[in-house]
Amino acid sequence: MSASIAQSKGKITTHVLQRMKENNEKIAMLTAYDYSMAQLLDRAGVEVILVGDSAANVMAGHKTTLPITLDQMIYHATSVVRGVEKALVIVDLPFGTYQGNSKEALHSAIRIMKESGADAVKLEGGKEIIESIDRILSAGIPILGHLGLTPQSINKFGTYTVRATEENEAKQLISDAVLLEECGCFGILLEKIPANLAKQVTRKMKVPVIGIGAGGDVDGQVLVLHDMLGITQQFSPRFLRRYHDLSFEITSAVKQYISDIKSHDFPNAKEQY
Ligand code: KIV
Repeated sequence: MSASIAQSKGKITTHVLQRMKENNEKIAMLTAYDYSMAQLLDRAGVEVILVGDSAANVMAGHKTTLPITLDQMIYHATSVVRGVEKALVIVDLPFGTYQGNSKEALHSAIRIMKESGADAVKLEGGKEIIESIDRILSAGIPILGHLGLTPQSINKFGTYTVRATEENEAKQLISDAVLLEECGCFGILLEKIPANLAKQVTRKMKVPVIGIGAGGDVDGQVLVLHDMLGITQQFSPRFLRRYHDLSFEITSAVKQYISDIKSHDFPNAKEQY
């Protein structure tokens, strides 16, 4: 096996991700929304950090990703960028800032890049947003496309169930993926689609394909940090592997803290001036 491309010195760029795909080296991606977590993820060696609009759910407590604003995304992205030295930082363009108006899309993407210092943006959708994609790419801003389950369209679909299980939807997804690649997107994210379809798309694409709930035959994986750490508890789709039960750990630590205060144990003699 050849030497790891991701472990070589220097910042991860979209070109590094491309070489990783060509070298059959899997890409590890996680979401982050703040400085401290981003720093931990970067130091742990994750190659890509996504400032997802899932911040609307896990940071702000909204039921959908729709309410988060461009200013709020820029705030999260700026905090993340400050904590990162090596990973590629991608930021979601939030709902309502790029659909149906390519000029506004470009303006939104430029604001994210200028104000946060991020490396790339992510947009949900295929041919219906192709003018926005084209315009943003023409300004030299790298784009990760997002197909399959697109949470910003929840009001159109009504559910978060697996997408592209029917032949016509699968065909549409493949043609959207091809279109995004031809337009110049540096990669495609596939969310919650059958593993076989994701495998087919990954084989067809020259650019890296990142999956969430799309099986193992893609070029990389992404999870929402709060879900994989077990901070969120109610959200339990089949694709989610929990690596920790931080909800339990944090609750236990906080209960211990409360108890130490009540029992006059904290602070002790060594913990004061
Ligand atoms: O917003 C987000 O966190 C995402 C991931 C679910 C891929 O788009």
